[in-house]
Amino acid sequence: MDLAVEVENLTKRFGDFVAVNEVSFSVAEGEVFGFLGPNGSGKSTTIRILCGLLSPSSGHARVAGLDVWRDAERIRQRIGYMPQFFSLYDDLTVAENIEFYAGLYQVPPALALARQSELAEVLELGPVLDRLARTLSTGWRQRLALATSILHRPPLLFLDEPTSGVDPLTRRLFWEVIGDLAHEGITVFVTTHVMDEAEHCTRLAMMHYGRLIAEGTPEEMRTEHVQTMVEVQAHPIWPVLQALEKAPEVVEVALFGDAVHAELRCDLNDAEARVERKLQTAGVAYERVVAVTPSMEDVFVSLARRWERPTAAGADR
Ligand SMILES: Nc1ncnc2c1ncn2[C@@H]1O[C@H](COP(=O)(O)OP(=O)(O)O)[C@@H](O)[C@H]1O
Ligand SMILES: [Mg+2]
Repeated sequence: MDLAVEVENLTKRFGDFVAVNEVSFSVAEGEVFGFLGPNGSGKSTTIRILCGLLSPSSGHARVAGLDVWRDAERIRQRIGYMPQFFSLYDDLTVAENIEFYAGLYQVPPALALARQSELAEVLELGPVLDRLARTLSTGWRQRLALATSILHRPPLLFLDEPTSGVDPLTRRLFWEVIGDLAHEGITVFVTTHVMDEAEHCTRLAMMHYGRLIAEGTPEEMRTEHVQTMVEVQAHPIWPVLQALEKAPEVVEVALFGDAVHAELRCDLNDAEARVERKLQTAGVAYERVVAVTPSMEDVFVSLARRWERPTAAGADR
């Protein structure tokens, strides 16, 4: 399979600060590749390098077969890019913004018109086409931003936090549109800090403090990194948290919604019984203890813990 993106030991420094630290990964054509990580983990910096907008400090990266050091200009012609903070022309209407970007991408006018109505349909922009961009809420601005980044049908699309700050309906619509684009053969590289959006991706990479800490399919992520996860429901929940924090077989414990998720250093078989015993011994009331499949957030919390203590990380991994 051809590679849409190949990154090897990519590093970006801003002065003494290392924003992207020796990162290596690849993205095959046709994938929906999710680039996950909390704010500040180096996602946007990586994307800007891949889009030919920022030069790396060291390492290699190829995008659509082109080298980011030498062919930045040609890369920009072959991709679509929706930046995290998209600049729309506030004094133009939605339709005028689309027209403007069509011109920028040199989409012939007749084709641009056809695509505008197609995108208006898909992204449900019809009712706002005549509104000034400055009057749009975040959700609508993001829809317009996505529309302008795919007007020219790039074979490779970079979306930087497209769902950040949007309402749940727009969020769902975006993932549907991303799925449809992938179905048409477009490779999508998408970042998010919402771990559970990872389920929409075919493969993932997880960033933390500029380093790539894990890579794989959503299924691999959930099964390979966390040994055993148990969910405890209780009212109140804090005593459970406190009791489990002290238990030696508990690797990590965190609030998950209004329950507690505890990662254990033991087999799935006796996990529930062990936790129940622990809570009973501590005299803590609970309603239910049940083994669960870790969520992507659980996986991140577990991996991040190992990376935050560099001396322990080597032993853990
Ligand atoms: N131009 C810059 N100069 C200095 N520091 C920067 C610059 N751009 C990003 N950073 C820093 O690099 C880190 C990673 O930023 P970024 O790539 O935007 O992370 P993310 O997109 O994952 O939130 C942050 O600590 C940010 O402050
Ligand atoms: Mg960012």
